[in-house]
Amino acid sequence: MSVSRLVPCILLLCAIAPVRVIASGVPAADAVRPWLDPGLSPGERARLAVRAMSEGEELSLVLGDFGSVMAQKGYRPPAGARMGSAGYVPGIARLGIPPQWISDAGLGVATQRASRDAYRERTALPSGLATAATWNVGLAQRGAAMIGAEARASGFDVLLGPGADLVREPRGGRDFEYAGEDPLLAGMMAGAQIRGIQSQHVIAVLKHFALNDQETGRTVLSADIARGQARMSDLLAFELAIEQGHPGAVMCGYNRVNGQYDCENRWLLDEVLKGDWGYRGYVMSDWGAVHSTVRSALAGLDQESAYTFDEKPYFGAPLAEAVRTGRVPRERVDEMAERIVRTLFAVGVVDHPIDPEARIEFGADRRVAEADEAQGIVLLKNAGGILPLARTVKRLVVIGGHADRGVMSGGGSSTVFPVGGDAVAGVGPAGWPGPVVYLPSSPLGAMMGEAPQARIRYVSGRDVAQAVRAAKWADRVVVFATQWAAESEDVSLTLPGGQDALIEAVARANPHTVVVVESGGPVLMPWVSQVAGLLEAWYPGSGGGEAIARVLFGTVDPSGHLPVSFPRRLAQLPHPRLAGAGLAANRPFEVRYSEGAAVGYKWYQRERLTPLFAFGYGLSYTRFGYGDLRARVRNGQLVVTFTVSNLGQRSGRAVAQVYVGPKSWRALGWEAPRRLGGWSKVSLAPGASRTVRLTVDPRLLAVFDSRAQRWERSPGPYEVWLGDSSDPLGPPTVVSLPAWQHSARWNE
Ligand code: BGC
Repeated sequence: MSVSRLVPCILLLCAIAPVRVIASGVPAADAVRPWLDPGLSPGERARLAVRAMSEGEELSLVLGDFGSVMAQKGYRPPAGARMGSAGYVPGIARLGIPPQWISDAGLGVATQRASRDAYRERTALPSGLATAATWNVGLAQRGAAMIGAEARASGFDVLLGPGADLVREPRGGRDFEYAGEDPLLAGMMAGAQIRGIQSQHVIAVLKHFALNDQETGRTVLSADIARGQARMSDLLAFELAIEQGHPGAVMCGYNRVNGQYDCENRWLLDEVLKGDWGYRGYVMSDWGAVHSTVRSALAGLDQESAYTFDEKPYFGAPLAEAVRTGRVPRERVDEMAERIVRTLFAVGVVDHPIDPEARIEFGADRRVAEADEAQGIVLLKNAGGILPLARTVKRLVVIGGHADRGVMSGGGSSTVFPVGGDAVAGVGPAGWPGPVVYLPSSPLGAMMGEAPQARIRYVSGRDVAQAVRAAKWADRVVVFATQWAAESEDVSLTLPGGQDALIEAVARANPHTVVVVESGGPVLMPWVSQVAGLLEAWYPGSGGGEAIARVLFGTVDPSGHLPVSFPRRLAQLPHPRLAGAGLAANRPFEVRYSEGAAVGYKWYQRERLTPLFAFGYGLSYTRFGYGDLRARVRNGQLVVTFTVSNLGQRSGRAVAQVYVGPKSWRALGWEAPRRLGGWSKVSLAPGASRTVRLTVDPRLLAVFDSRAQRWERSPGPYEVWLGDSSDPLGPPTVVSLPAWQHSARWNE
């Protein structure tokens, strides 16, 4: 804003006006601070507030501090920051604008490991992939509301999640934080999580925009992809999440896209996000993702986070200088401040101040996390109906995975230190991105609770001969296999530490072997044909041990379905060799996403490959029947109806999935014959049926034409499949759809 706008305010009133605070702690509106009137729209409030700001105040809003000590740089956070946190942006007290107290992340309130003095113990949700595997947007929202409430009660009003990068690279070290390989599923899930977090008046930060799809070389690589293909894949996930959730902020990632850093990528930030999608929140950078002042400011970055991670501060004083010399228009700085403040009003941060006295109901919160995991566990194999385990089982042996103590969680900035402390301390790297934190929720203990009559033994699995002896003694064996994944490094898909050999030896000794996998994402399973039962439990979260036990014994019917394909072997992947592997650190390279929008199951279909387990797959203890598939056109939109029936003897939840595609895509070898068009998670008592009706978003039937800058659906016959995975159950039904076009500017 200009100095002339500020003068009357300073001289006449602002400097002398005491801030009046009403009983609730909310600063009250008055003639001097009309922006504090909740009756005005967030946009109007933001405009009024920014008009009253000095340039220095505006600039203070666009530059963030780190919230923890950085001994190697001699950095200490400012006094107002919450110690051990990810970030802090001071407020403007005289205007009633609160500070932004920023915490990681999408799975719960994290503590930066640099600051053990400020160590917080909080509730951890299961990993993002576990939540995506529930295919239950209600659960995703509830879990996010829980962590949002814990964030508030911990003094934070900004939570750095959720993430919506697609699982393009199944070895990605952060895949566990995200919501799978399909844009519709990821977008709907992330959207629900944003709604949940923001229901607590805490700003959700959708990250990492965009194509931050692997950790190897994450700060130097360029993800190269045709723009139209990006619009139909990674960007579509973000587009849907934004429409569904309206996040207060979007975080631009570390990587480059088509040669330009995310945080100075005008196409991503200005054209697509703020232009085409009409996004009204602010763009904040990832920690250390800023490389310029003018380029970033002009491309659409609104806030430089934790500048200590960048080579030097690029906003703040350098931005003031760029404005002074005319390289950045002053209005652009006004806009940055306005976007930030608008979000503070829109999410309710100003009107609902943080209450540092708030209590956290840890017991109830743990149950929320447990309920999420209970629906996220995927039953992948159940030969001879070995599961659910009978409570009358006499001798049961549990092997490995520290299942006697707890469940694994992923590493890096999202690490939540659990209530009760790390159940298996001292595992994994002592430094970043470690440690490997085990949440104190013992599957073994919970299994003992489910089957109190059984004799249950635990062996660690470190000694294979001992495990084999125990397996021979037992009637049933449950092996826990774990794979730790963490931010900043990618994983191999092979289970570490000789676990494949352990599983093979145990399965040879006892055919009644069930494997429970706790992993960040897909793993290779060379032993799959030798084991009778198989559950994918992801990172199970607080209360995850109980959820696993309840599924194993059938107290809960498994209803998770895969949000990612599990490859049979590495050679099936679009990139059998991880891009950048073996290159010297910090040497820039390109990852060419020549598979375009054919991510995950679409790749397998296009290449006619059969994965080990298909996207969308998941078994239940009951059986579902699908029928009466009908497709028709209503107001130009595709409407699909079908029935789902529970044909078994137990209650259960089906995940009915509809896949769509024009006939022509097959002939063209386009992306894939089928895309997920919609789904419904249906809870059914034995013998019950339900009719489901879904409207398919027209973008899922269209192609993005980047030259014409629009979505285009060509007229003609379209096929609609129904099933319980991306491998449909029967032949498609055909419907003729009219042409449809939509300008890229979806929100206009
Ligand atoms: C991560 C972000 C995180 C930030 C703050 C970065 O290293 O990429 O996801 O929110 O740190 O801890």
